[in-house]
Amino acid sequence: MAKDNIFSSVIDPVPPFEFNEEVVRVFDDMIRRSVPLYSEIIRRQAQLAARLYQPGSRIYDLGCSNGNLGMILLEVMKDRSFEMLGVDNSEPMLQAYKARLDNKKEARIRLLRADMEAVEMCDASVIILNLTLQFLAPPRRNDLLEKIHAALRPGGILLLTEKVIHKEEDLLQLQQAFYYGFKMEQGYSELEISQKRDALENVLIPETLEAHLERLQKSGFEKIDVWLKWFNFASLLAVKG
Ligand SMILES: C[S@@+](CC[C@H](N)C(=O)[O-])C[C@H]1O[C@@H](n2cnc3c(N)ncnc32)[C@H](O)[C@@H]1O
Repeated sequence: MAKDNIFSSVIDPVPPFEFNEEVVRVFDDMIRRSVPLYSEIIRRQAQLAARLYQPGSRIYDLGCSNGNLGMILLEVMKDRSFEMLGVDNSEPMLQAYKARLDNKKEARIRLLRADMEAVEMCDASVIILNLTLQFLAPPRRNDLLEKIHAALRPGGILLLTEKVIHKEEDLLQLQQAFYYGFKMEQGYSELEISQKRDALENVLIPETLEAHLERLQKSGFEKIDVWLKWFNFASLLAVKG
C-alpha cells in the first residue's frame, strides 16, 4: 500500500482537495489513517447490504472510489447473484476499481463515471453513500436524498457514513481534538494535518448529526439507526417503510 505523504512538505498555496491520480495512488493508506474505524465501517456495511439485499433488485454505491466496499461485498455475498452499480466522478478512482474487478473476472459489479446527482436509479434495495454526501454542496443534499428514497423498494435501505460536527461549540472542539489526536497516532505530522484541513475547506462540508437525521426523515425514511459513532464520524442505516 503506497504511503500517503501528499501534504508532508510545505505547499503554498494549498489547492482544493481532489480525488486525482496522486490521491488515488495513496488512497487506501490515506483513508485508513484518516477515518477512524474505516475497515469496520465498510465490512459492516457490506454485511448489512448482503443481509438486507432483496433478490432481483439493485445496489448502488455512490462515490464508490476504488471499490473497497465492493471487494468485501463480493466476499460476503459469495456465489449469490446481485447487481451493483458503482458510481464515481473520478476517472482515476474508477480505473483502480476496474483493475480489481478485471483481476477477479467479476460481472456482478458495473462501474459508471458520473456525478451521483445525475444517475438514474430505480428498483434498489440497497444504496450506499459512504463518506460521499459530505462532498456535495449542502443545498443540493435534500434532492439527492429524496431521489434515493424514491429509488428504493419498500424495505430498502440507505447506508450513510459522514464526518459530522457537534452543534455545541465545546463538544465540537473536543471532537476535533480527539480527531487530530487520532491522526497524530496514525503518523501524520501537524503540517500534514493542517494542510489537509486547508485543502478540504469548502470541499468537504460536514453537518451535524441532527441535520442528517432531519433530512432522512424529511426524505421519507421511516426507521433510522445510528449504528456507529466515533466522535466526529457517524454511520447510519435508514430504512424505507
Ligand atoms: C471519501 S471517498 C468515498 C469512500 C468510499 N465510498 C469507500 O467506502 O471507500 C469520496 C468519493 O466520492 C467521489 N465523489 C465526490 N463527489 C462526487 C459526486 N458528486 N459524484 C460522484 N462521485 C463523487 C470521489 O471521487 C471519491 O471517490
